[in-house]
Amino acid sequence: MPQSPKITAELLTVRDFIRYGVSCFNRAGLVYGHGTDNAFDEAAWLVLETLHLPVGELEPYLDARLTAPERKAVAAIIARRIKTRKPAAYLLNKAYIQGVPFYVDERVIVPRSFIGEMLCAEDFALTDESDTVLDLCTGSGCLAILAALAFPSAAVDAVDLSAEALAVAKRNVAEHGLEGRITLFKGDLFKPLKNKKYDLIISNPPYVDAPAMKALPPEYRHEPVMALAAGKDGLDIVRRILKEAPAHLTPNGGLLCEIGQGRVRLEDEYPQLEFLWLDSEMSEGEVFWLTREQF
Ligand SMILES: C[S@@+](CC[C@H](N)C(=O)[O-])C[C@H]1O[C@@H](n2cnc3c(N)ncnc32)[C@H](O)[C@@H]1O
Repeated sequence: MPQSPKITAELLTVRDFIRYGVSCFNRAGLVYGHGTDNAFDEAAWLVLETLHLPVGELEPYLDARLTAPERKAVAAIIARRIKTRKPAAYLLNKAYIQGVPFYVDERVIVPRSFIGEMLCAEDFALTDESDTVLDLCTGSGCLAILAALAFPSAAVDAVDLSAEALAVAKRNVAEHGLEGRITLFKGDLFKPLKNKKYDLIISNPPYVDAPAMKALPPEYRHEPVMALAAGKDGLDIVRRILKEAPAHLTPNGGLLCEIGQGRVRLEDEYPQLEFLWLDSEMSEGEVFWLTREQF
């Protein structure tokens, strides 16, 4: 009679560890939304990064076996994901937008703005000129960095009220070698910029409403409250940006702003503004574009 092969730890492959991660994550009822939206992608990301393998190139490695220290490290990070309920990005200190890597930790939200995808699109052409760009509420600096990469001759300013977030942004700006093109400011929205004007203002401000803040799943509770909460209906900061932006736009300039689920409320409240709603692969009606002329 043929003997069934004995499964030993030495035989376990990348595929086995990803499968194990998916089973554990499903059993634990984890929540996603910080770079992945399902158990398989989350497990694959954690396994590949822990093994220092390129994310997005899973296939060639699926049947590769792991060394004993690698098995230990992968099992440990899968266990930490479940025990701490921290998003993978915090466990790995890394997040990507459109393949561009950023350092992250709990001083900033995990980068996932739909504006990132728009800035990376080859046909992104909302303004004729974008020599001066402002990223309001910059957090990790991810959008300021993507804007600097999208507009290679632009000078980019980036503002955040959190000194802790700005420390992370500073690290990312340096890691991307953009210290000469991105200037970081600490302050409340436009305040530290005095009267400066910009061709393009981008912003992914806090926009979570009070009921949603109360119902946040554990993963989201690791993110800074001030990066998420924006009053009763989530539009406190967006209203301030709409009020103050015109004074900081050049005559041909425009504002690109992410607002979450507030579209209907905003349209009711500002009937005079002709918001142009831009969709991305993952979002519909959550980002508006307004030119200086339209204010
Ligand atoms: C949703 S996060 C966006 C971070 C980053 N732009 C991104 O897309 O990942 C919002 C950021 O706004 C900052 N913030 C909150 N209130 C602010 C204010 N009044 N002025 C400037 N920044 C503020 C928070 O510290 C946080 O870093």
